[in-house]
Amino acid sequence: MGKDETRRIGVVGLGYVGLPLAMLFVDKGFDVLGIDLDSRKLDALRAHKSYLSDLTDDQIAELMQGGRFEAVQSYEYVPELDVIVICVPTPLNEFGGPDLTYVQQSVTDIREAGLNGQLIVLESSTYPGTTEEILLPLLSRRGAKVGQEFHLAYSPERVNPGDTRYARTAMPKIVSGVTERCLDKIVAFYSVVFDQVVPVSSTRTAEMAKVMENSQRFINISFVNEMARLCEAMKIDIWEVIDAIHTKPYGNLYFYPGPSVGGHCIPVDPLYLSWKAKQEEMSCDFITLAKRTNDSISESIAAQLAEALVSGSRLDGKRILLVGATYKKDVNDVRESGAMELLHCLKRHGAYVDYHDPLIPEISMKGEEAMVSVGLDEGNLASYDAVVLATDHTGLPVAYILEHSKLVYDTRNMTRGISGKARVIRLGTGV
Ligand SMILES: NC(=O)c1ccc[n+]([C@@H]2O[C@H](COP(=O)([O-])OP(=O)(O)OC[C@H]3O[C@@H](n4cnc5c(N)ncnc54)[C@H](O)[C@@H]3O)[C@@H](O)[C@H]2O)c1
Repeated sequence: MGKDETRRIGVVGLGYVGLPLAMLFVDKGFDVLGIDLDSRKLDALRAHKSYLSDLTDDQIAELMQGGRFEAVQSYEYVPELDVIVICVPTPLNEFGGPDLTYVQQSVTDIREAGLNGQLIVLESSTYPGTTEEILLPLLSRRGAKVGQEFHLAYSPERVNPGDTRYARTAMPKIVSGVTERCLDKIVAFYSVVFDQVVPVSSTRTAEMAKVMENSQRFINISFVNEMARLCEAMKIDIWEVIDAIHTKPYGNLYFYPGPSVGGHCIPVDPLYLSWKAKQEEMSCDFITLAKRTNDSISESIAAQLAEALVSGSRLDGKRILLVGATYKKDVNDVRESGAMELLHCLKRHGAYVDYHDPLIPEISMKGEEAMVSVGLDEGNLASYDAVVLATDHTGLPVAYILEHSKLVYDTRNMTRGISGKARVIRLGTGV
């Protein structure tokens, strides 16, 4: 990036959040420098290959050839940037608490590269207090002062991958700053990019807004999953119940049962909040209960399959095909995927499990043998004792699967209204 250019934006972390955001900044006329430590992502970008299901190769080619975007591995150009937006992962650590190492590393690298009055914006989801308690001390460590050597803001990313109903710019953008001046700066910048900017009084408020909205979703989905189990016991079709509920014109939210709650946000953010609550000597009981409910779904599905296949509790030697490995439809992300949790659970019960997913050609998990997506041809389907529909990707040949499989366990209500030769068990129905 040339030194004489102004209004240069850095985006740190070019994943599901950072890359589309970088594209948006480019669309709005900014020069953008993407920084990511993953050389495979940078190679893919240079080869004009998309690694995100929401972006096409053509869009990547346009971005890379447009002259306004560059992707690098190094932080050396940080002093030349006016705004730096951090979009790195915030996963759970081995104890189920916050792992902020990616955030801390990126902030440290920014500081070491050189502070120059830049506005630094954290977009990663995290517990209330992170910006002031973790980022601010890290940035100030060598005597740098907020409002002078750097400005610091928090704005949670609220994107819903795979959802094409809303333009990225249409999502109201919650913004906050460590000082009034920091807030003014982020309002001024994001007002150019987003249709609606929602300033709040503190970074803690903005952080809380993000983890609370995701916790609410987590609890609601868990509640529907609990009701699904009750419906199974009572032989009531939960999907029909939900349709009936939704005829009420107000006061309802749309949540559906499924194989747990997945993705990098919904199952993770509530645990960040719970962790912080414990620091405050409080507890988030709804979250604890919701997690317990979700964690038990795979076991329940495995038990139903064992009952159907062997009238027992184990699946030893049974061959099962899982259709869909991602945490939700039309998104190529298997992180915290309920489908993957189910796959592991079926294996623990003794089953031999393969998977098919048009968006995930292969899966290699730490410490496990790599798996390759198998085909859905007639002979293959017939060779499995059961097929589990775990993710409802658009275009999956449900009728074909029903026609050529022996037993289908449908966790997403994909088979409703479609008939075939297979025996069907539908989650949340008791049949
Ligand atoms: N994925 C979503 O749907 C979504 C939605 C809203 C919010 N979020 C939040 O946004 C944040 C990012 O999530 P994501 O899904 O984009 O993650 P991601 O894993 O897809 O992308 C993060 C990127 O950061 C890079 N990275 C890690 N450490 C780095 C460092 N020190 N310097 C430079 N690059 C580094 C990784 O290589 C990766 O490419 C998380 O906090 C997540 O909770 C995600």
